Amino acid sequence: MIRSVIKGCGSYLPERIVTNDQLAERVDTSDEWIQQRTGIKHRYVAGENELTSDLATKAAKAALEHAGIDAVAVDLIVCATATPDETFPATATVVQKNLGIFRGAAFDLQAVCSGFVYGLSVVDSMIRAGQAKTVLLIGAETFSRILDWEDRSTCVLFGDGAGAVVLQAEEGCGENQDRGILNTHIYSDGRYHDALYVDGGPSSTGVAGFLRMEGKEVFRQAVSRMPESIDAALEKSGLVAEDIDWLVPHQANIRIIEAMGKKLRLPKERVVITVDKHANTSAASIPLALTEAVYDGRIKQGDMIMMTAMGGGFTWGSALLRW
Ligand code: ACO
Repeated sequence: MIRSVIKGCGSYLPERIVTNDQLAERVDTSDEWIQQRTGIKHRYVAGENELTSDLATKAAKAALEHAGIDAVAVDLIVCATATPDETFPATATVVQKNLGIFRGAAFDLQAVCSGFVYGLSVVDSMIRAGQAKTVLLIGAETFSRILDWEDRSTCVLFGDGAGAVVLQAEEGCGENQDRGILNTHIYSDGRYHDALYVDGGPSSTGVAGFLRMEGKEVFRQAVSRMPESIDAALEKSGLVAEDIDWLVPHQANIRIIEAMGKKLRLPKERVVITVDKHANTSAASIPLALTEAVYDGRIKQGDMIMMTAMGGGFTWGSALLRW
């Protein structure tokens, strides 16, 4: 049986750090309020001329290097992003050009904060169907461009960044039998549009627009939807929560992550947390967190990893894999 195995990961964060105190100079907020409600201490913000494709390309190069795989081997690039460089062409095709890849396919995937989990689901299906062998899956965002910097209820929550993984098709046999993606579950419910959306776009207003959110509703849904998708993953694989070595959740808010950990009865030490440093980087948050935990040696080969995310739409889902 063919399995999709992650061979390497990498990430990139812009140079500029914006602290909570710096935001408090701009809107009526405080470091104390932001940390207490969200766990965020600071976030990274892309430079004026730095595009989503720039962040994505740097993360992709780091992932290829970590995997020890040459860019020319890549036959599919998927970039999960809600903040593409342009309406079209896909940011993934810009990354493809930047990497000097002139074959295979490249496209963007839009599921906002669930983009990376959706991406894993799509590329896993394509790999198992024999449509791709070596895949770059990237989550990259410049949310700073769609924030209303006058709105204190949203502008404090997000940051920019990118993370990437390289996946390869492997025949599951011998010691590799259990490695790779075990299952993915993705869901959406469009009735929740108004709870989290951007009030613009090419077909509605003709301008990019700003992010709008009903924070309490997002919170309420997030703490039930993500655990539901984790339960679906565990049930499908015949595992229980204790079998999870690492939960790598979407990094939206420390209180959402803690509530989820509690529901699963997972000790804090087995949950990867980066929201304090990165804030919410949407589709980039899971690969950024994953890369940190792999590079610092927490995640080791053979570990069982559960990823879960929720975002605008609403969209949500999970991916279970053995590293
Ligand atoms: N600084 C100071 N005060 C603020 C700020 C701020 N940055 N933002 C809002 N407030 C005020 C509000 O105006 C309100 O004041 P009022 O009582 O005088 O009207 C008060 O704080 C309480 O506001 P609430 O919205 O009730 O605060 P809440 O406890 O719900 O926290 C928060 C808000 C942090 C946004 C929370 O609802 C949340 O985390 N929701 C999830 C949102 C999220 O994670 N979105 C990310 C995208 S979706 C995803 O990734 C899963």
